[in-house]
Amino acid sequence: MPDQLINLCIDARSVSVPSGVTVAAAIAMSGSGVTRLSVGGAARAPLCGMGICQECRVTINGRAHQLSCQTLCADGMHVVTASEVAA
Ligand code: FES
Repeated sequence: MPDQLINLCIDARSVSVPSGVTVAAAIAMSGSGVTRLSVGGAARAPLCGMGICQECRVTINGRAHQLSCQTLCADGMHVVTASEVAA
């Protein structure tokens, strides 16, 4: 039986991922991988994948500083990263 697909929006891009995928994985699958910018403006990406490093923080459904590695994708979710700023 195929995995159920979850549809979400990452930086104005529509993305479909299998159920059970974290937001950090969905961001990587969507191409960018960048989640936020450091204080000095350097692009940052998920590092530990277990809620420790805080490098994966993004805005999810309007709530800033959510850990994308600890959040499962949900249908209709809206994720904003800093990838457009870093480009
Ligand atoms: S990747 Fe380290 S806290 Fe999410």
